[in-house]
This record gives sequence, C-alpha cells and structure tokens, in this order.
Amino acid sequence: MDRLKGKRALITGGTTGIGLETARQFLAEGARVAITGKNPETLATAFHDLNGDALVLESDAADVAAQKTLAEHLGEAFGTLDILVVNAGIVEMLPLGQWDEVSFDLSFGINFKGPFFLIQELLPFFSSTASIVLIGSVNARIGMPNTSVYGATKAALASLARTLSGELVSQGIRVNAIIPGPTTTPLDGKLGLPEAKLKSVAASLESQIPQQQFGDPLEIAKAVVFLASDEAPFTMGSELLIDGGLVL
Ligand SMILES: NC(=O)c1ccc[n+]([C@@H]2O[C@H](COP(=O)([O-])OP(=O)(O)OC[C@H]3O[C@@H](n4cnc5c(N)ncnc54)[C@H](OP(=O)(O)O)[C@@H]3O)[C@@H](O)[C@H]2O)c1
Repeated sequence: MDRLKGKRALITGGTTGIGLETARQFLAEGARVAITGKNPETLATAFHDLNGDALVLESDAADVAAQKTLAEHLGEAFGTLDILVVNAGIVEMLPLGQWDEVSFDLSFGINFKGPFFLIQELLPFFSSTASIVLIGSVNARIGMPNTSVYGATKAALASLARTLSGELVSQGIRVNAIIPGPTTTPLDGKLGLPEAKLKSVAASLESQIPQQQFGDPLEIAKAVVFLASDEAPFTMGSELLIDGGLVL
C-alpha cells in the first residue's frame, strides 16, 4: 500500500495509543514518519515497536519554545512537511471546584496552546499540498461531568480546524479534525483512578454508547490516513466523528 508514498509526516504524541497506531499505518502506506513524546520509556518502546523506521523525538507538547526547536529539527530532517497530526493530549477529570490554575494551564498547554504554536512554527516548512489533522474528542460535544477543561481544549482544537482551514487554504494546506469517542488506549490508565473505579467508569461509558463498546485506535488511524492522503483534496474544515454513536 502506498497511499502516503513519499509524504513526510509528523505525529505528536506518537508513542502510544492512537498516535502509535497512526505511525504504524503511515509507515505501512509509505510515509516517512517522525513522532514525538515526552516520557523516555514510551519513546524507547515506540522506537522498537516501529522497528526503528520512525524518527523519534523527545519534545514537550506544552512547551511553546520547544515547538520552534521541533519545527527546525523537522525542517533539517525532512526539508518540507506534508502531514501534521496533532495528537498529543492528556485528560484530567476534576469537578469544577477542584481545578487550580496550574492544572488548567497544563491541560490547555498540551492540548491546545503548544499545538497552536507548533502549527505556527511549521508554516515555513509545509509543502504546497499539506494536510493537518487535529485529534479532538467527543468531550467537546457532550456534557460529561468533570471534563469541563478537557472538553474546552478539544472544542478549541475543533474550532481551529475551521478557522485555519479558511486561513491556510491559499497556501494549499488543508485542516481537518477527527473526533474520537471512547477508544481503547493507555489513556484511561493515566487518569489516576483505582482499577475498580476505572472499570465502573468504563462500563458506564460503554452503556451510553449505542454500539455498547469502545472504539479501536486502528479505525482512527485509518481515518487519519484518509484525511492526510491525496484521496481527500476537497475535504477541509471537517470534523469526522468516530464514536459508535455516542453523540447521536
Ligand atoms: N482514548 C480515547 O478514548 C480518546 C477519545 C477521544 C480523544 N482522544 C484523544 O486522542 C489523542 C491520543 O490519545 P490516546 O487515547 O492515544 O492516549 P495515549 O495512549 O495516552 O497517548 C497520548 C500521547 O500523547 C503524548 N503526550 C502526552 N503529554 C505529552 C507532552 N506533554 N508532550 C508530548 N507528548 C505528550 C503521550 O506521550 P508520552 O508517553 O511521552 O506521555 C502519548 O504519545 C489525545 O489527544 C486524546 O485526547 C482519545
């Protein structure tokens, strides 16, 4: 398969879950791939999982100054960039009364502010037929308790898919968003919940999904391949829902 043959791609947060599966699919479709992450352990395991075929870069998605360094690194390694997947993200679930400024800024830093300045820094490097895919979340659309900040970061990303579509179309850059519903990845394990609580939260979520199950990262990755490929030249500013019917 060579749907991305010759294309050069950056996937932020490509060390686990949706990002790692997207890196696998991109490599299988003939792309040259760079991924980022912050945790040295998952960076190392991803390098091995991808058989050493991807450029694996340590870069903190929340650090605005680091976005410039990352863009310069990409420029040196690839020359131009055809695909950017903004995927790195965290979820912190807290009731309104427990949020403080540090936690608020961390979520917005990783999920929105860092990505915003990464796109800005990458502007000189994008090819004239580039595709940016932003990974949003159904939490921007549903009223799930304790997700006020997470949902807002993802609503901001979805907004960016539309505004930057208008702004960057003259440079040949398409911007789209994918809106996953609950998907089986290591993300839930990072919520800091005890195992029993995690299971009950997952069961409660599953019961609200018409398909009664979580999604598979492979389906998200295949959708990213489509939006990143030359099969979607007229698709811009879109939000592709992949959620088993959760927001119906
Ligand atoms: N799983 C779901 O149910 C679901 C649903 C809707 C949307 N999403 C979105 O999908 C995206 C991928 O999530 P996932 O489910 O695949 O979770 P995941 O397995 O936890 O992946 C998150 C990725 O983001 C990276 N990351 C986190 N903080 C970072 C930072 N400060 N700097 C650089 N990289 C950082 C992680 O790298 P490290 O290992 O280095 O931390 C990892 O590669 C996220 O944006 C998430 O919000 C997920």
